[in-house]
Amino acid sequence: MENIRFGIIGCGVIAEAHALSIAEIKGAELIGLFDRNRDRAEAFAARYGIQAYPSYASMLADETIDAVCICTPSGLHADQAVQALREGKHVVLEKPMALTAADAKKVCRESEISHHLITVISQNRFRDDVQRIKRLIDEGSFGQLVMCDLYMKYWREPSYYANSTWRGTWRMDGGGALMNQGIHGVDLMRYLVGDATLLRGRAKTLVHNIEVEDTAAALVEFDCGALGVIEASTSAYPGFSRRIEIHGSKGYATLVDSTLEKLCIDGEMLVDKTVLTDTGTASDPTMLGHEGHALQLRNFVAAIRGEEALLITAHDGYEAVRLVEEIYRSSENGK
Ligand SMILES: NC(=O)c1ccc[n+]([C@@H]2O[C@H](COP(=O)([O-])OP(=O)(O)OC[C@H]3O[C@@H](n4cnc5c(N)ncnc54)[C@H](O)[C@@H]3O)[C@@H](O)[C@H]2O)c1
Repeated sequence: MENIRFGIIGCGVIAEAHALSIAEIKGAELIGLFDRNRDRAEAFAARYGIQAYPSYASMLADETIDAVCICTPSGLHADQAVQALREGKHVVLEKPMALTAADAKKVCRESEISHHLITVISQNRFRDDVQRIKRLIDEGSFGQLVMCDLYMKYWREPSYYANSTWRGTWRMDGGGALMNQGIHGVDLMRYLVGDATLLRGRAKTLVHNIEVEDTAAALVEFDCGALGVIEASTSAYPGFSRRIEIHGSKGYATLVDSTLEKLCIDGEMLVDKTVLTDTGTASDPTMLGHEGHALQLRNFVAAIRGEEALLITAHDGYEAVRLVEEIYRSSENGK
């Protein structure tokens, strides 16, 4: 069987996770990239022994490329995804899918028209413990779900924003603690517990000198009836690991990052451990392995071949952006 051949656009921090993942997947191959920063593009290309294209259009015009990974600043995602789909490429799109629900919808529509696959990165869904909780919820092991809470009290040094041309701006980041970091947790919550309606949201800029929020909280109601809170920040020093707490009438589970800390069903304590916390991306965005990306890209390649269902679809990307946008709107309106 022929390899699925990839190109990458945007060769910054996260592109490395894509390149390393593709290198590990049997039947996948990275053949080229484009970054508007020429020096960075050439250095990246030399590191992986691949070609640097002179433009995105020329990479898309290369018929030997089957799929592109879009790893550019978030404000470029929607347009670049639409362009790639129109050129007949499958797309791996970094989160968030777009900066507005309306733009995310456009990408969904384009994917339907083009009949090409698009997956939006949410690599933590693929972790073993997340999958275990998902199965238990689907089997009804927790009974009636009553609460699902997401806490992402992260910290970012001021330099994280100051040294970037795009982070912390409405135009290119589309938001702050929620749209950039929190969206990972928002997708996980929705994956585990289902769709949620926003009841009330607040987003504030308390610490950093940025346009967008560094502190946000929201109250949500899930379609299954459970209530929950979402808290996301880049202002809580020194930064605390992501926590998801799920409670039902027959049991509960707590996930720290993507590792089970407690799991109790029908009075039986199945997991009870201390997970080493407050390291990693809670305080340092570069502390990111590529294992989750490798699992997601492996699923994407298998889905292109028709061997597996795509776990994270365009609709999933849309729903996460929609909920974040609703929190911003609720905060603006004071309702
Ligand atoms: N899934 C995750 O855990 C995760 C982690 C970090 C970042 N991200 C996402 O990945 C995206 C990129 O983040 P990053 O931290 O790698 O950013 P970055 O600033 O390190 O890299 C972005 C790259 O895109 C290039 N670029 C900018 N405009 C371009 C254009 N028009 N055409 C081609 N290249 C262009 C820049 O030169 C730069 O090399 C963001 O959307 C972010 O939300 C996801």
